[in-house]
Amino acid sequence: MSNTPSAYALPQDYKEQGRLSQQYTWMKALCGSQSPVPDRFSLDGSPKIIDIAAGTCSWILDVANVVKNKPHVDGTQDIGEQRAHLFACDIDMSKCPPRSVMEDLRIKLFSQDVTKPFPAEMEGTFDLVHMTLLVFALTTDGWKAALENCRKLLKPGGLLMLTEVDPIIYSSHKPPPPSEAPEHDPVNAMAGPTWRHKHNSIYTGAALRNGFIVGLTHRLPKMLQAASFSVLEFDRITVPVGKLCHEYRGFRGDSLAEFENISLENTDIMLDGLSRGMLKKNILEAPLGNLISTEEEMKQVLGEIYVGTRDEGSLGIMGVFVARAE
Ligand SMILES: C[S@@+](CC[C@H](N)C(=O)[O-])C[C@H]1O[C@@H](n2cnc3c(N)ncnc32)[C@H](O)[C@@H]1O
Repeated sequence: MSNTPSAYALPQDYKEQGRLSQQYTWMKALCGSQSPVPDRFSLDGSPKIIDIAAGTCSWILDVANVVKNKPHVDGTQDIGEQRAHLFACDIDMSKCPPRSVMEDLRIKLFSQDVTKPFPAEMEGTFDLVHMTLLVFALTTDGWKAALENCRKLLKPGGLLMLTEVDPIIYSSHKPPPPSEAPEHDPVNAMAGPTWRHKHNSIYTGAALRNGFIVGLTHRLPKMLQAASFSVLEFDRITVPVGKLCHEYRGFRGDSLAEFENISLENTDIMLDGLSRGMLKKNILEAPLGNLISTEEEMKQVLGEIYVGTRDEGSLGIMGVFVARAE
């Protein structure tokens, strides 16, 4: 299936903006790293760094905060030291901070569809490319084009940092399969009577309906290799939601207890956005095979998932990849 800008399945509104900003702190705790950049990447020597599909720009703002790229204006001349050359882009700029904020931090912001070629003068110039959570934006063809474009932006030996999730949830009784296991069984996850089947009919169903990849973290290593990257790191992280934040820890042992509510709100907003999108197109099913055709029915199903998620919690899968451009 080919990629079009309208393929993006999540809303572009203020609720989504809030969800993404909170999600950034949660994802950092899940990964357990203090620094926004990979441990093996040095911020010395004014590196050139870009955040693609930046959304609210949380990541590049974090990098700017670390490198302290503050302008120092003397009269009309900016004589501040440029400690890193920072760029951010997205297909839709509505969630980005105001331009004045970005300019103050010397982050160059521009509009860009990652599946389309970047400006030729940028090719082969970046030391680090960062891209996170395009699972509800890119089809297989979209990923192929996006990874090619990321590689073209990088200098030989430059790094791509990619964080993605598989759009499917599991439970503490039936935890996510290990990475070496075969890919997920989406039909089994969506067809059944429980709130979890209904959750997956929306979450996994939205991915399947749009031609997105449910086993994304399984497939990315091969997709990266096909785009001439060497995969240097792949951390597969279990993502607890709700009460399970008290039982599971982040990848490096951090407590996730403080994210109980954030993880629940994140799930509510995302399922609300996905189900509204599918209801509009008359393709909302929950569980699989049961068409939901009114807002009232949708709210009832979301209510059931809301209670189930709070009573039992859920588990997801996140993959953090660091790959080198060859
Ligand atoms: C789930 S958000 C993640 C944003 C950010 N990376 C983060 O982790 O907070 C996905 C972002 O991808 C952007 N997007 C969707 N399709 C895109 C495309 N083809 N090219 C570039 N950005 C795209 C959306 O506008 C949205 O801001």
